[in-house]
Amino acid sequence: MNEDLNGIEALAYELRKFPPSLEFVANALVSDESLYDEAAANHEKFWERQARELVDWNEPWTKVCEWDLPYSEWFVGGKLNVSFNCLDRHVLAGKGNKVAFFWEGEPGDTRVVTYSELLDEVQKFANVLKSLGVEKGDRVNIYLPMIPEAAVAMLACARIGAAHSVVFGGFSSQALADRINDAEAKVLITADGGWRRGEVFPLKSQADDAVKLTSTIEHVVVVKRGGNDVEMQEGRDHWYHEIMETASAVCPAEPMDSEQLLFLLYTSGTTGKPKGIMHTTGGYLTHVAYTFKYVFDHKPETDIFWCTADVGWVTGHSYIVYGPLANGATQVMYEGVPNFPGTDRMWSIIEKYRATIFYTAPTAIRTYMKWGTQEPAKHDLSSLRLMGSVGEPINPEAWMWYHEHIGGGKCPIVDTWWQTETGGIMIAPLPGVTVTKPGSATRPLPGVGAELVDELGRSVTKGGGYLTLTKPWPGMLRGIWGDQNRYRETYWSRFSDRYFAGDGAKLDDEGYLWLLGRVDDVMNVSGHRISTTEVESALVSHPSVAEAAVVGASDATTGQAIIAYVTLRGGLEVDEKVLRDHVAQEIGAIAKPKTIYFTPDLPKTRSGKIMRRLLRDVAEGRNLGDTTTLADASVVNELQRRAVETPTED
Ligand code: WTA
Repeated sequence: MNEDLNGIEALAYELRKFPPSLEFVANALVSDESLYDEAAANHEKFWERQARELVDWNEPWTKVCEWDLPYSEWFVGGKLNVSFNCLDRHVLAGKGNKVAFFWEGEPGDTRVVTYSELLDEVQKFANVLKSLGVEKGDRVNIYLPMIPEAAVAMLACARIGAAHSVVFGGFSSQALADRINDAEAKVLITADGGWRRGEVFPLKSQADDAVKLTSTIEHVVVVKRGGNDVEMQEGRDHWYHEIMETASAVCPAEPMDSEQLLFLLYTSGTTGKPKGIMHTTGGYLTHVAYTFKYVFDHKPETDIFWCTADVGWVTGHSYIVYGPLANGATQVMYEGVPNFPGTDRMWSIIEKYRATIFYTAPTAIRTYMKWGTQEPAKHDLSSLRLMGSVGEPINPEAWMWYHEHIGGGKCPIVDTWWQTETGGIMIAPLPGVTVTKPGSATRPLPGVGAELVDELGRSVTKGGGYLTLTKPWPGMLRGIWGDQNRYRETYWSRFSDRYFAGDGAKLDDEGYLWLLGRVDDVMNVSGHRISTTEVESALVSHPSVAEAAVVGASDATTGQAIIAYVTLRGGLEVDEKVLRDHVAQEIGAIAKPKTIYFTPDLPKTRSGKIMRRLLRDVAEGRNLGDTTTLADASVVNELQRRAVETPTED
């Protein structure tokens, strides 16, 4: 931990309060404290009821929760199939013609996919995977744009018990290769390319570069989307549309053990190596089905849900694929960027599909704010009745703007705190119950135990502290793929018997939680987790760089921005752009530093440790206070002078 909780005290409370309207309460699935009371009375019984009501099981469990800290198993002995729960059961219930996805491509092309069409496609693709040698327990990598085939591929894996590992399409070939290697995936599913800001971005060529760096991939399946030229390697590469043509449309869902690995999803930790977070079947599905239903007050007959996340992140897994589909939801899925062809694209999509629930990230909201209120004002957004926020703390200004200009002052906002590791939402309002305050995620959901603690692990009931989770929950990660020591070390060693989330938070007088961001070396840039060490290693891997220190500095739009301090090898010179591109090459464009400062030396303690805190103070223009522990204080003075002078690149 490199940061204390200074600064937390300085946060002024936001005093405005927003109860849900009487009309919202009257129609809400939950409008009183009953769920909270039920969960508080008996944690396991509460979750057991959710599992029974929201999920179909082939065989019942013998034990609700096996808790052997830090490992939990849920619905032990139970059997189910996630793909059956997301597809077959709705079709069997006569809902086959219900729309699962209204998909909108960036260029304006559209597709409507019903539940029965999705089921057919998934069965076929499950057979394709089998024909390519994929078996239960194998890993399959997915590197796709935001197209329905992404959901098809994930559900097909779930159908046959293979674990998927989805890698965000914005990651570089190197990052993809690292993840394939760590998971030892057999098959890679990608596309020729996808649309982004009016152009096709290539994926297949990146995938080819990645596969060269790996030894486990036997087959690559390529969805045609961008129409760009690609090289197909005979025997290894297969066009999705061709291989699907001959696949049988029948692939019965095989009952899986409740603890069967469902997916790996890599996320940044405090070292350079991303962690493969493990999620399993029964508990995860229960958790996401429950949270989707109640946090979004979901009514399958009337709601049109739109989550703007990419399937490459956990939000896309839990609230585009598994949670909504398990609930039989109708969704909007959009391929591209929010400012193509105009800066009102999102609002035009809401109007077009009459979306009722909209779930996005604070960084996006701040960007829409910059684009101006005239953009949403061009469209009829009256279909919206509820809105959500996820990924980082939402500042009260953004909350209010969202409330007024998107929600028309009438929609409750659910600010949802959770993590890749938690699988699903943990801290959030229940929209028909909770009086919200702009900027607060309010309180733990029924069935979630969260507590703030101080440095020594003592419970904090008011003021600032570290966020910990005190009880096992069904969607919790089951570990880190291939590195269970790191699992213990990262989450369970800082405070005994508690899960340490890595976030700081504050409790106000009324017991509301205010999330304040990471307290470790993980940055949050536009809602994406990137570790300082990862970016440092990428920089240092450039031949001209001797040493690098990276910090996340506050940024009005992206939450945090990546600022790098770089020392070059003797006599060498390199352009800032070259290094930024090098980072994009190593990790992906999302990890490009916003600004790079070249410096002959980095500020270090006398024991040689780089003082990142101090660099962050410099980057954020704060007074430095005492620098006497520095080996050479002149280094910092010089950096400070330049921070004032250097314009940052957008
Ligand atoms: C941050 C995204 C404040 C937090 C679902 C967490 C939030 C990290 C919120 C997880 C929120 C997410 N308020 N902070 N509502 N939601 N975070 O794994 O720092 O990509 O630890 O999961 O995002 O990011 P991840």
